[in-house]
Amino acid sequence: MKKIAVLTSGGDSPGMNAAIRSVVRTCVSKNISILGILEGFNGLVKGEFIELGPRDVSNILQRGGTILRSARSKEFRTSQGRELAYKNLKQEQIDGLIVIGGDGSFTGASVFHQEYRVPFIGIPGTIDNDLFGTDFTLGFDTACNTIVEAVDKIKDTAASHNRLFFVEVMGRDSGYIGLTTGIATGAEEILLPETATNIDQLIAKLEDSQKSRKNSSIVIVAEGDDGGGAYSIAQKVKEKFTHYDTRVTVLGHLQRGGRPSCLDRVLGSQFGHKAVESLVSGKSNVMVGILNGEIAETSIELAISNTKPLKQHLFHIKDDLTL
Ligand code: F6P
Repeated sequence: MKKIAVLTSGGDSPGMNAAIRSVVRTCVSKNISILGILEGFNGLVKGEFIELGPRDVSNILQRGGTILRSARSKEFRTSQGRELAYKNLKQEQIDGLIVIGGDGSFTGASVFHQEYRVPFIGIPGTIDNDLFGTDFTLGFDTACNTIVEAVDKIKDTAASHNRLFFVEVMGRDSGYIGLTTGIATGAEEILLPETATNIDQLIAKLEDSQKSRKNSSIVIVAEGDDGGGAYSIAQKVKEKFTHYDTRVTVLGHLQRGGRPSCLDRVLGSQFGHKAVESLVSGKSNVMVGILNGEIAETSIELAISNTKPLKQHLFHIKDDLTL
């Protein structure tokens, strides 16, 4: 392995820069040349590479987003796009790829590997924490901390005005963010893509809360919930449950930005180092991750074909804790 290239793909997440920095410096320490590919797989298709050295990744550990920029590439989904990508890799004499992203990015890289046999290692980077084979993905912890800070503020005003707030958080297909932040903020109810939303049950729960002399309530709604998002659920609740003054806050993309937490910086550093080591030792089609506190490797096939189950214990305790 003489030359490796690294890219970030899909939704950006805090901690991606820590991983890029780690990949670059680990390569340099092993006398391996390292290129950055700009804008995810788009840059591979267009041949947009930059050389990276230790000083190019100075002072990025604490920055959110990704210095390499990211994209959800449409071109790379076509066989013509992947053919161009392969030509560019060959021209640059790149021996292996490190892909930082989520399941969509790994699926693309896996198809590319099947077609052209280019070795690659995946680093899980998505705020959704929805990848099988790792307890944490990069950015999840930071996003949860951002949400908790925002909901704490909403709770101040909710309590002052006796209001019911529906707070929509990210997670199109996965409720990890919703469940975790719902527990951390003491939300009265948590609505997730994994569970069917029943408006009557929700209203019964909110009525119970009111009867127990709570003067405000928070409902966390994951954007992929089957009830149709926070605005639509709030509307349905308002029609039947008129006693409460109701408000909606959609936190949106502010959840994806910001300085990475300590955990995300450490994970990014560990994942980057391990990814280079794995590639150098001849491995491919593997995602690095963290399982029970230890660095782990999972085949990409397993990582993308399995659904990571939500933590049952959090599910189990959530109703007891909102009495
Ligand atoms: O996958 C990360 C994520 O932030 C999801 O939680 C969210 O549904 C989606 O990306 C939003 O994507 P975009 O930034 O393309 O609107």
